[in-house]
Amino acid sequence: MCGIVGYVGSNQSVEVLLGGLRRLEYRGYDSAGIAVIDPDGELHTRKRAGKLQVLVDDLEALTLANGSTGIGHTRWATHGGPNDQNAHPHLGDNGKLALIHNGIIENFAELKAELVAEHPDTVFTSETDTEVAALLVGLEYQKTGDLSKALLNVVARLHGAFTLLVLHKDQPGVVVGARRNSPLVIGLGDGENFLGSDVAAFVEHTHRAMEIGQDQVVTIRSDSVTVTDFFGEPVDAREFEIEWDASAAEKGGWSSFMAKEISEEPAAIANTLIGRIVDGAVKLPELDVLGPDILRDINRVVVVGCGTAAYSAMLGKYAIEKWAKVPVDVELSHEFRYRDPVIDRNTLVVSISQSGETMDTLMAVKYASEHGARTLSICNTQGSTIPRESDAVLYTHAGPEVAVASTKAFVAQVAAIYLFGLHLASIRGTLEPGEIADLLGELSALPAQLDVVLEEQDAIKQLAGWMTDTRSVIFLGRHAGYPIALEGALKLKEVAYIHSEGFAAGELKHGPIALIEPGQPVFVIVPSPRAKDSLHKKVVSNIQEIRARGARILAIAEQGDAAVLPFADVVIPIPLASTLFEPILAVAPLHIFAMELAAAKGLDVDQPRNLAKSVTVE
Ligand code: M6R
Repeated sequence: MCGIVGYVGSNQSVEVLLGGLRRLEYRGYDSAGIAVIDPDGELHTRKRAGKLQVLVDDLEALTLANGSTGIGHTRWATHGGPNDQNAHPHLGDNGKLALIHNGIIENFAELKAELVAEHPDTVFTSETDTEVAALLVGLEYQKTGDLSKALLNVVARLHGAFTLLVLHKDQPGVVVGARRNSPLVIGLGDGENFLGSDVAAFVEHTHRAMEIGQDQVVTIRSDSVTVTDFFGEPVDAREFEIEWDASAAEKGGWSSFMAKEISEEPAAIANTLIGRIVDGAVKLPELDVLGPDILRDINRVVVVGCGTAAYSAMLGKYAIEKWAKVPVDVELSHEFRYRDPVIDRNTLVVSISQSGETMDTLMAVKYASEHGARTLSICNTQGSTIPRESDAVLYTHAGPEVAVASTKAFVAQVAAIYLFGLHLASIRGTLEPGEIADLLGELSALPAQLDVVLEEQDAIKQLAGWMTDTRSVIFLGRHAGYPIALEGALKLKEVAYIHSEGFAAGELKHGPIALIEPGQPVFVIVPSPRAKDSLHKKVVSNIQEIRARGARILAIAEQGDAAVLPFADVVIPIPLASTLFEPILAVAPLHIFAMELAAAKGLDVDQPRNLAKSVTVE
């Protein structure tokens, strides 16, 4: 969850580190710190509780000696509260070594006890697991005089998930990193090299990057990069080009990243489709590694994800089952592997993750592979871990998503899993080519339709402005509208801190209707009147049932849906689309509603309390 950056080169590292941390702050923002080695070989550190700006202000008030080697950290607290003492870096070797960490060292208590038994005079200045690692690496350095070896000796003793970066004043010009189940990538510069939790850390300096595999150690100097496994044996690392520009991760005049990213929802879908629809057919060469036989022979798909990604998985289930006629289960990643799921060679486990680093999802993918299933990752982040652990990857091209609340990544995920569903239908012959071409036409029309939706959001903005004192909001949907109800409720909780629940509208009478009292706001995602199985009529009946009990109805309905008008207090119209495509148009107003309401309450919509963008701990 924390953000990590390392630098060796000829620039002033304080500026490089703060720039990297600014771009990584979405990963965690309860404290921040840096360590640099100055030209005289002295180590300087500064760390402060609070957002990165607190550290920046502190450094402006009292300058830190600069140098061209450094490490920086922005924290999401796990062990020990968010205060100055627990902020990273932590020191070892009598203050000569600095170390930063992302993850959780599960056996830190045992290691700490062993350390104290061997060195009873050890002084701990924090409550963190990280400090134990810093002290251990310091002791190993005293024995070996080699920073890489010192780190190797320590990682061999650690359990859990970690990325560690370390520097030592006696080795200026060197930063060493190690990773297990936690992200780290290398940025390759000209006379300078970088390490970062993701490429955002260094994209303003270089577009050349290199992956670091599981259980590997990397040593960077200004003119070299070496990668070894945890036994010190050299390994090859794959180089890749970063596809987006630093400006893509800037606010660029928007009031928040969330506002900017909602505005990018149409482009996120369009870019995810580019090059993948040719002459009315799906082209996904990246799935060739799975082979047509495998996709033809699978008898079950399990889609795993967390939070918003799990809602795009639910839409994927509706689409894949309808189009490709394969049974699909959707599971929260963290529930999946702990309940002994029945999977085999004929199960395809599809993981969905914006970051590609969500620990729960990563562990689900590993579990699936270990139990013989084929794995496909739908992911937005190049060079991240989940795609590397999967047999195949289908990248969404939403561009960097910085706000903690996932918005444009969601619609891109839905577009990607729909493409996959149609690909599967084509391979399995469950849809005629003409039917596939028609559905692809509908998919391709979504960006322009979404543009229209985004242009007409004054009503929802006004509504949000009126509802700042609201304490509870209910969201109802049915069929493909149900995941959208869940998504609307999650966004409102997450950024506006308002208690909200999403329900399948048909479930109301089985309990939730008891929550309805006069004035209770209820968003209803109304299916198209043209939808099959009289879904529309059923939802309109649900609306009448709750309105009779005093609910305020906020309906998201197809333009011209006259049946809803008499019963709704507010109607947010969306363009005509068929059942599986309509939700993609219905979600944007809910994203805007949550954002506007949070902003009207004076909250930081990009960095909601207690959260981090990338959840790299279980
Ligand atoms: O990076 P991932 O897509 O794996 O993240 C999954 C969830 O943590 C994420 O969608 C989370 O629920 C969002 N903050 C919701 O807006």
